[in-house]
Amino acid sequence: MQKIPDRNFDALVKPTKLHRSLYTDPDIFELEMSRIWGQAWIYIGHESQVPNAGDYFTTNINHAVPVVMIRDKDDSVRVLHNRCGHKGAKVVDKQSGTVRGALRCAYHGWSYRFDGSLLKIPNEHGYQDTGFDASEPCYSMQPLAQVSSYRGFVFATLSDEIPDLVTWMGGAITCFDNLCDRAPEGEVEVAGGVLRYEHDCNWKFILENLNDTMHPMVVHESVVKAAESYIATLPPEAAKQRREAEIIPPFGASYENFENTGITGFDYGHHYDGGKTSIHADYSVDPDYHEAMVAAYGETRTREIYAFNTHNVLYYPSLTIKCAVQNIRVIRPISVDRFVVESWSFRLKGAPDTMLQRTVLYSRLINSAMGMVGPDDLEVYRRTQKGLHSPVNDWVEFHRQYGKDRILPDRIEGGGTSDLDMRTQYRAWKAYMEQSYQRGVDYA
Ligand code: FES
Ligand SMILES: [Fe+2]
Repeated sequence: MQKIPDRNFDALVKPTKLHRSLYTDPDIFELEMSRIWGQAWIYIGHESQVPNAGDYFTTNINHAVPVVMIRDKDDSVRVLHNRCGHKGAKVVDKQSGTVRGALRCAYHGWSYRFDGSLLKIPNEHGYQDTGFDASEPCYSMQPLAQVSSYRGFVFATLSDEIPDLVTWMGGAITCFDNLCDRAPEGEVEVAGGVLRYEHDCNWKFILENLNDTMHPMVVHESVVKAAESYIATLPPEAAKQRREAEIIPPFGASYENFENTGITGFDYGHHYDGGKTSIHADYSVDPDYHEAMVAAYGETRTREIYAFNTHNVLYYPSLTIKCAVQNIRVIRPISVDRFVVESWSFRLKGAPDTMLQRTVLYSRLINSAMGMVGPDDLEVYRRTQKGLHSPVNDWVEFHRQYGKDRILPDRIEGGGTSDLDMRTQYRAWKAYMEQSYQRGVDYA
C-alpha cells in the first residue's frame, strides 16, 4: 500500500476518490474516534427513554468513552462522563434503569447527585489536611463539554469549540421537524424496544450505503422478487391489507425513480435523499391517522407534512433517521472493522396504534439481523471490507455526476443517483480530521 505521510489528508481524500486505508488502518480509526467522534455532536438518546428523575441510559460517545444520560430532579436531562472522580471506575454499569437518591460507585462508595456533583465520600475525615478539595470538578462525574436536545433528541459532544447543535445541523434540521410534525401532538416517544445488530466491518460503510441509490435494485433484487411473487398469489384485497406489500417492493425501484428523488447535502456531512418523493411516498394513509392530523394541523398543513418525503437522513456521523417511518438508526463504532447499529422505533403522540405497528414492522423487516434487507447490505459491506485488502488498487471512487452538483448558499443539491452524498460526507471527514472545524475555517 502506498505510504501516506502522517496527517496528510489531501493524500487520502481526493474530490472523487478515497484511499482504501480509511477502512482498514487501525491508526486512522483511532484518529477518527478523537477528531470526528470526539468533536462532532453525537446522538446519545431520546428524552422519553428517561421519563422520571433517576432514570438513566448508558452508552459510549465514541468507541471507548462511557457516558450516562440521566433525568435530574429539576426535570432536566444531563449527559455525564460515566467515570468516578475517585479512581476512575465506571459508575453506572447497566444499559438502562433507575437510581433512587444518588449515583453510587460500586468500588469505594463515593456518591453523586444526578447533576454529577460529588455528594458524599465514605469515611471522609481521612482527607483532612491532605490538600484534597472535594469541590474541584475532577472529583465529580463531569458533564460533557456541551449537551443539547432538539425536539427531545439528545446530543452531546466532547468539544467545547463545535458550534451549537442547531447551527451544526443547518438545513438538515427540517427533517427532525418533519419527523415530529408527523405526530398530531407534535411529539414522538421511544416505543417498541431497540434492535441491536453487530456489523463486522468499518462503520463508514453503512453511512455510504444509506443514500447509495445504485445498489438497492442489485443487492435487494432477490428479496423484492420473492416478495412480488408472493404478493401476486394473493387476492387483490388481501395484498392491500399486508403492509409488507407496501414496504418491500419499492426497494426494487428503477434507476430513473431513484434519480428523481434527488440528494441534498449540507455542511458537517449531513445529507438526505428524497424530499419531493422517496421509496416511502406511496404508503397508504390510515384514515384515523389522517383525521387526527387534519384536526391538529388543518388539511393544507397536513398535506405539506406528508409531501416532504425523505428516504434516509444522515446527521454525520452517528445518526440516521427516517421521518416517514418514525425509525432511527444509531451508529456505535467499536474498532476499525466492527460497529453496532441500534434501531429505535418511535410512537407518534396522538396517532392510532397502527402507525407504531407499521414502524416496528418496518424495523423488523428491514433493519433487524433476521430481516430481509439489512442482512443483504451487511453481506456487501463484508465483501468490500475483504476486497479492500487487495493491493492492486488503492482507491475507492465516487465520480458519479461529479461537477454537476448545484451549490446553493446553505446546501448542495444533485441527482438521486449521484455520489453527492459521498462528496458531502468526505468533505466533512477531511475537515474534522484536519481539525478545520475546530479552528472555525469554512472549508467549502
Ligand atoms: S473508584 Fe469510585 S469510589 Fe473509588
Ligand atoms: Fe440496501
